Amino acid sequence: MAFDLILTGAVLPDGRLGQDIGIVEGKIAQIAADLPRDGAEVMDVTGHLVTPPFVDAHFHLDATLSIAGADEVNETGTLADGIALWEEMSAAMTADDYRDRALRYFDIAVSQGLLAVRTHVDVTDANLVAAQALAEVKREVADYIDLQLVAFPQMGFFCRPDMDDSIRTVLDLGFDVVGGAPHLEQTAALGRASITALCEIAAEHDAMVDMHCDENDDPASRHIETLVHETRRLGLEGRVTGSHLTSMHSMDNFYAARLITQMAQAEMNVIVNPAVNLHLQGRYDTYPKRRGLARVPELMQAGCAVAFAQDCVMDPWYPLGRGCLLDIAYLGAHACHLIEPAGLWACFEAVTDVPAQIMELDHLGLAVGKSADLVVLEARDPAEAIRLRAPRRAVIRRGQIISQTPPAHARLTLPGRPERLDLMHAFHPAPDGP
Ligand code: FE2
Repeated sequence: MAFDLILTGAVLPDGRLGQDIGIVEGKIAQIAADLPRDGAEVMDVTGHLVTPPFVDAHFHLDATLSIAGADEVNETGTLADGIALWEEMSAAMTADDYRDRALRYFDIAVSQGLLAVRTHVDVTDANLVAAQALAEVKREVADYIDLQLVAFPQMGFFCRPDMDDSIRTVLDLGFDVVGGAPHLEQTAALGRASITALCEIAAEHDAMVDMHCDENDDPASRHIETLVHETRRLGLEGRVTGSHLTSMHSMDNFYAARLITQMAQAEMNVIVNPAVNLHLQGRYDTYPKRRGLARVPELMQAGCAVAFAQDCVMDPWYPLGRGCLLDIAYLGAHACHLIEPAGLWACFEAVTDVPAQIMELDHLGLAVGKSADLVVLEARDPAEAIRLRAPRRAVIRRGQIISQTPPAHARLTLPGRPERLDLMHAFHPAPDGP
């Protein structure tokens, strides 16, 4: 077989060493040791981990980078003040503004090996300025980013009487997923009614569902049980995601155990945002301050697909972030007590294969016949990739190299020590030493 591109000497996530990955017409054609070169372009990746791309299944592209250079600050760090600030800032935003920030963010994302993103888009604005701008961006970036758009009535499904029309309009514009935020409706009853209405629209349009759900520290915030019920009533098993679910942290153990069983029976997907919710939750606590994350190990154990995601980068809710899903896996491993080897493996999968599964991106994966969307990491295994938040030496999309980052060197001047340029040698000294 003649290959277009061969990555030689790769380490695979399952531990296989010295593997060549042969690519033909943008797809993985063969994985084996010593593939024939036969004029193919060759990239030597000896000793480097090659993985499927990072996938961010929960993001807010409409708000990203919006506080860079802005005077406004969310002083309290609460979700509520973030929403208030966003309402103020977004009133003046134009289509060009949404497009410019989205494209700049994707430059960063691609360099970090992040090639698929599900973004919630606020459709509260009746003119749908953000929704139309980002539907256009989805087409513009399709060669390098798989972008899924979620119709997200951020100020509440019932904040205006014709919100259902807006949801249907953006689904016709190319949106993929129906969102919601039942805990932000004025009453719990309205929250439940919003779930029913939104799930029915999704079922009508054969769309997936991904709701912000119970993003607070209130153990009585139990909209997730309604989402489970509607999932089963409408036959949407496997196509519905509960995002954030931070109130699960504060529920009593009996109720949480019963709920987790029901979620697993409904094949409910779960997306947890460790960075943002460690920052936003516990804000009304004195001490102890709750972490405010869903019960990740228990949900994984029950068989739910659990992904870690970024949620925000430099917006009214979160001033940090850099498009690095390894940062998110690193934080998730700590915050969810998943730092033993099996836990770190689960954390790596939670930012690669699991979010791809939740987003139904069947073309992604490290296997013959899958799209040649790959990341070359300066690490020997997934645990080391998380530990070092490993540099992305190369990013490949459909068989084309679309980003390369040269190795960073440190020049040391230490008495009695050799000058070392590559700090990886400190972790993995060569047998004959430098
Ligand atoms: Fe979110």
